[in-house]
Amino acid sequence: MKNLDDQLTLRECWGRFTTGVSIITTRLDNKKIHGMTANGILSVSLNPPIVLVSIGIERNTHDFIKKKKSFGISVLNSSQKEIAEYFSKDNILGENFFDYKEMPLGELVICKSIAQFECNLFKEIKIFDHTLFLATIDNFDFSEGDPLIWLDSKYKKI
Ligand SMILES: Cc1cc2nc3c(=O)[nH]c(=O)nc-3n(C[C@H](O)[C@H](O)[C@H](O)COP(=O)(O)O)c2cc1C
Repeated sequence: MKNLDDQLTLRECWGRFTTGVSIITTRLDNKKIHGMTANGILSVSLNPPIVLVSIGIERNTHDFIKKKKSFGISVLNSSQKEIAEYFSKDNILGENFFDYKEMPLGELVICKSIAQFECNLFKEIKIFDHTLFLATIDNFDFSEGDPLIWLDSKYKKI
């Protein structure tokens, strides 16, 4: 077994844990939508519907959620890789991906994503350089389609 000196192996270990890919969206003061690619999300309970998202304190999204309290989660379909790539880079705040790509956007969630949640923050737990945000899910929906997959630090299809 490796120990803490081997960060690369630790990354590779977690790379084996296959997940879907989501976008966490927040609405800015200028009404535009900011997005962040995330797989650190967890369904804590269904009744009541509670979600946990783990966000690095350096992320723009971190402070947007703290300030706005509400956010969306969209689970991407297998043809939405471009959206995941865009929102995993430091994107210029205020630049509206959805306008220039003519992407349809719901109120706070991404259209054609395979599951959508609108969430309201009720608790924050700071763990070193991340904050765990616990939120109620107030509205939700889903669409047919295959998920986009994240495995070994690459996007894949089923
Ligand atoms: C597949 C994938 C999953 C990610 N999951 C998370 C996550 O759960 N939490 C997090 O803080 N960053 C996560 N990131 C990194 C952010 O997407 C990335 O740092 C992004 O640029 C942050 O945007 P922002 O600073 O504009 O909010 C993930 C990146 C990828 C590619």
